[in-house]
Amino acid sequence: MTLQTAMPAEELQRIDDDPVFVSRLEKLTHLSRERYVNTFADIEWPDAVPDDEWWLSPELLSVHGTEYAETLSEAQLKRLSKWECINAFSLNVEGERELISALSAQLYAPDLPNIETYIHHFIDEENKHLWFFAEFCRRYGGKIYSSKKMGVANEAFCREMGFFLLFARIFLFEEIGGYYNVIAGGDDRVSPFVRTIHQVHHADEARHITFGRAILSQSKDIAFRAADPAEREAALAHLQRFLTISIEALYQPAMYRDSGIPGGVALRRQLLAHPARRAHHVAALLKRPLKFMNDIGIRLEGDAL
Ligand SMILES: [Fe+2]
Ligand SMILES: [Fe+2]
Repeated sequence: MTLQTAMPAEELQRIDDDPVFVSRLEKLTHLSRERYVNTFADIEWPDAVPDDEWWLSPELLSVHGTEYAETLSEAQLKRLSKWECINAFSLNVEGERELISALSAQLYAPDLPNIETYIHHFIDEENKHLWFFAEFCRRYGGKIYSSKKMGVANEAFCREMGFFLLFARIFLFEEIGGYYNVIAGGDDRVSPFVRTIHQVHHADEARHITFGRAILSQSKDIAFRAADPAEREAALAHLQRFLTISIEALYQPAMYRDSGIPGGVALRRQLLAHPARRAHHVAALLKRPLKFMNDIGIRLEGDAL
């Protein structure tokens, strides 16, 4: 009989022993190089994006499917789509800034698997996204909205769980953003330049999400073996809270105010509780990420708001 001597931290370090994982990482690295885009030089910024065009698909608006949408004219809905787009892009600015900082902190840590080469591409791509989303918000909205998303990452977890949770938060954030990118980027009604921004973003994000699925599949069991029961429970609560905050951030009161819709705080509350919106969160917006998390044994509620 042999004694189990491997320490959990070593387990995390050995993720890159798996040839399937390593070859996926190499493929993603290859694609990042092959599809490299010099976004800083390539984007041609128009003087303006017209206010009387759609900035997001009408089906992506936070009032969609509710009686509130019916009280608004098409012109008002288009105006709302502008500020909802600025909000979605502002959330990307905020999330990508945190993501770059957290990913940079993992680089060359001696107790982590050898994923640095791809992480460099990940950070490189997010750095460009952060720049073009911030530039878009300032040029066409004159502002970047700020949400109350801070503070979710600061709980103390063991190294293995901290690693898993970092990539789980990134994955959930990217899946939510990806939902907007895919729909608006493929919608002819959306103003062409805005559509292009969604498409440019999604081209990189599809790889990031593939990476997220791979690293989460590899690290989930290691993290949950290393954690004690209380920590496991805290980890699930942490992800649930992250998900809830991410959904709430899509109902930013300032975007209703900037669209000329009064009572933004009350409207946000009513929309978050609205059955049509709650059904949308579970059945559409979060469908893919919740299914994936469930498949790796992490049960999260899309309707815990
Ligand atoms: Fe991004
Ligand atoms: Fe990304």
